[in-house]
Amino acid sequence: MKKTTPFIVGNWKLNPLTQKAAAELAAGVARRHKKTEAPYIAIAPSAVHMSEVSKKIKNSTVMLAAQSISFYDGGAHTGEESVGQVKDLGSEFIIVGHSERRAGGVTDEDVNRKVAKILRTNLVPIVCIGERKRDEQGAFFTFVEEQLRSLAEQLSAASMKKIVIAYEPIWAIGTGKTATAEDVKEMQLFIESVLTKLYNRPTARSVRLLYGGSVKPHNAKELHADGGMNGFLVGGASLKAEDFIAIARATE
Ligand code: PGA
Repeated sequence: MKKTTPFIVGNWKLNPLTQKAAAELAAGVARRHKKTEAPYIAIAPSAVHMSEVSKKIKNSTVMLAAQSISFYDGGAHTGEESVGQVKDLGSEFIIVGHSERRAGGVTDEDVNRKVAKILRTNLVPIVCIGERKRDEQGAFFTFVEEQLRSLAEQLSAASMKKIVIAYEPIWAIGTGKTATAEDVKEMQLFIESVLTKLYNRPTARSVRLLYGGSVKPHNAKELHADGGMNGFLVGGASLKAEDFIAIARATE
């Protein structure tokens, strides 16, 4: 995947209710995204809908992502899905450390273990980072830096280049309070500067960065043009095929 081509990922979370609705949504996205190139698009349905969604996007350029995976490859782990299982269904990407999972107890250490496992399976982790709230003194920068340091502890420069980092300030997720394009640009530069310190400039520049948090059709164009990131991780607005595709088109 070329980093200069934007990458738009739809995280459906615990939606929709029925398999039929998931199939319709997936088909709607596939039908509207005829392009073979810019931007790249992936959708992350819940695990129970993955198989159905996979069928609907099979003949399109829309790619499949998983919302989470287990540490384990198999065995006595009730209620989990393994990397191998989601890969078997056609998943190429796996979201790791989404704030909604971190709120449920997923730690930085868990994130690192999962990232290592995903890379070993040759899939691409989309690692979510981001602060809970913003403060005047800028302590949120330190928080984001710590998350990046923790991730870097385990990863060689070659591995770091393979992952996608999604900056998702928690205060902007599902709230309608989007970060401004200036906030996003500032964070893009900050993340690159931290990665430059931890690795080197070529590595920092080759990591794909996404922004997530209340991205909608009406703000996508400005966030993309002025935010400096390489795409979006979209929650709520990915549940309507027209809106999701409108966001993707705003990056063209
Ligand atoms: P949102 O969610 O677009 O609904 O804010 C983003 C996310 O959680 O990835």
